[in-house]
Amino acid sequence: MASGESFYVTTPIFYVNDVPHIGHAYAEVAADVLARWHRQRGNDTWFLTGTDEHGQKIMRSAIANGMEPQEWADKLVDEAWRPMLKTLNISNDDFIRTTEERHESRVQRFLIQLNEAGYIYEDEFEALYCVGCEEFKPESEIVPGEGQYEGQKVCVIHSKPMELLKERNYFFKLSAFQDRLLQYFDEHPDFIQPASARNEVVSFVQSGLHDLSISRTSFDWGIRVPWDEEHVVYVWVDALLNYFTAIGYGDEDGQFERRWPANHIVGKDILRFHAVIWPAMLMAADVAPPKRVFATGWLLVGGEKMSKSKLTGIEPQEITDTFGSDAFRYYFMRAIHFGQDGSFSWEDLSARYHAELANGFGNLASRVISMVKKYFDGEVPAEVVAHVDDEALLEIARTAIRDAESAIDEFAIDRAIAAVWKLVDALNLYVTEQQPWVLAKDEGNRDRLAAVLATATRGLGVLAVLLNPVTPIATGRLWGAIGGEGDLGAIAPVQALDWRGSGRVGDLASLFPRIEQES
Ligand code: ME8
Ligand code: MG
Repeated sequence: MASGESFYVTTPIFYVNDVPHIGHAYAEVAADVLARWHRQRGNDTWFLTGTDEHGQKIMRSAIANGMEPQEWADKLVDEAWRPMLKTLNISNDDFIRTTEERHESRVQRFLIQLNEAGYIYEDEFEALYCVGCEEFKPESEIVPGEGQYEGQKVCVIHSKPMELLKERNYFFKLSAFQDRLLQYFDEHPDFIQPASARNEVVSFVQSGLHDLSISRTSFDWGIRVPWDEEHVVYVWVDALLNYFTAIGYGDEDGQFERRWPANHIVGKDILRFHAVIWPAMLMAADVAPPKRVFATGWLLVGGEKMSKSKLTGIEPQEITDTFGSDAFRYYFMRAIHFGQDGSFSWEDLSARYHAELANGFGNLASRVISMVKKYFDGEVPAEVVAHVDDEALLEIARTAIRDAESAIDEFAIDRAIAAVWKLVDALNLYVTEQQPWVLAKDEGNRDRLAAVLATATRGLGVLAVLLNPVTPIATGRLWGAIGGEGDLGAIAPVQALDWRGSGRVGDLASLFPRIEQES
């Protein structure tokens, strides 16, 4: 990929009805790894996240907590959502809140544009609404209830009854875009990923699109429809536009043209909004659809989707307090096939932490550095004569770089990490086989010992560069300890082998200390 190319990546903006759990954290970390990787490549990167603050769901949670919706949203943003970003070491460039003036005014401007283009009309409407989803549910997502809701119809996602709403609403002519959407999916096979998500959307659109209700009159916690003060904008139309308003859609300063189109990371439950409604809205406004919509799977606990409403949420801090943010980031990116569901368990987290981070990576770094100290007084040997075994290791490093780069191009984050881990394993094997501690016993092997430790240190340098987007705290420390030169966050993955190891090693406290099990 060419240097300097624009890379605009987004997470969903989260409802502030409650505090974050690790399902939300997962999307943040994924977008963060991609953003950091692209920044290292030298791409013109912009990473946006934020909060979705209008609509009935937020209004009701505010009322239930005895507060005004704005006051409630402010509290959750300050006390829960922004702190989550800190907890996870997220490097977002902007944070948009849908109650900000910069957002509201541009949403209104966009709606005026759609209205003037003839894509909006008014009509009477009656349908079943799920407040949990903030959506009028299609037939396909209404199922018979169980337990306390036996005999009633419920939303398939929230397992709760819906509300029958009858209102006069404004509508967006979504149905007019069926053919154009299908043609777009056809011409851009990578637009929706993974393939399973793409197939689901294609068949949904093929089955026919209904026009979309885009305003509500029965409550007022939302952005006013600019030409009719009785209505507030439907929360999903409001929310989707965050990707636009945050980069100044409609302004003259060139930010929008510089950034758009975006790469959207979304949960599979909100795929249709992003892959059908959103591109149709953009087509209606004569703007290019997003570059990519990538649907992640669900984090499951005990086989069920982790969720706030079902009280199965685990807060990110419960994990980072013990394992740290690097381990959190590594674990979820590595253990879950990106785009599929994954089960979380403390046992699996702890097992991977110890096997992969503490023993695989952390110990390797400590051992190599302590041998450079012991045998070369802390001076990384330079000008060494490479042996065929050293060349073989460097070849594995080249392959790791190449494979990780192409995996990142496909957003296959777990595959990128697995590619890097081949180098971790190869480097461990190399040290075991070369036995520097045996070479050190014979002065005649001094040159060989120098080459082995120089090669191993260089290998650690490659790992620091490639793992920096995933475990930035540990790699920053490692880079410092091996005497790495330059800002690690600005070293392109393809240049990871340029630094050959020179200068002095320093102290390195254990990168991933063992964690004693609580009994
Ligand atoms: O849907 N595993 O907000 P939200 C993985 N405001 N991802 C999960 C998850 C889990 N267990 N639980 C939730 C909204 N998520 C809208 C988005 S975007 C213009 C507006 C993901 O707070 C979920 O799939 O309900 C969704 O992608 C995201 O968290 C936000 O959820
Ligand atoms: Mg949700």
